[in-house]
Amino acid sequence: MEITVSRKTNFNAAHRLHVNSWSDEKNKSIFGLCNNPNFHGHNYQLIVAVSGEMETESGFLIDLKILKQIIFEEVEEKFDHKNLNMDTDEFKNINPTAENIAIVIWNLLRKRLNTNLKMKVTLYETERNFVEYNGN
Ligand code: NI
Repeated sequence: MEITVSRKTNFNAAHRLHVNSWSDEKNKSIFGLCNNPNFHGHNYQLIVAVSGEMETESGFLIDLKILKQIIFEEVEEKFDHKNLNMDTDEFKNINPTAENIAIVIWNLLRKRLNTNLKMKVTLYETERNFVEYNGN
């Protein structure tokens, strides 16, 4: 009997999508407004879904206080109100697309969770555009 517990949070961050080995024209044509040289911000919304077999005695899959704290330390403290390209080690060499941000966040959270739990992150870059990653 598998059950899923989720927590939602959000963070504001600036980024610029750019591939150094491409020409300025190519970067602009592929990334459009997200290639703006002076950066721009998004209000990212993150949903972390943890799945597994719950412990019958406590009735808990994971204590949400603990999940909240892990997300705070690994995501909010690292990325909220930051320029992802310039202020974070994680995106020094990784283009901060929604896809890559979801993968980086998944890897940071994965290290903090018990191995018997599965996890999926859903990252909204805008209200209508979102990316899901579950480690596969
Ligand atoms: Ni953007």
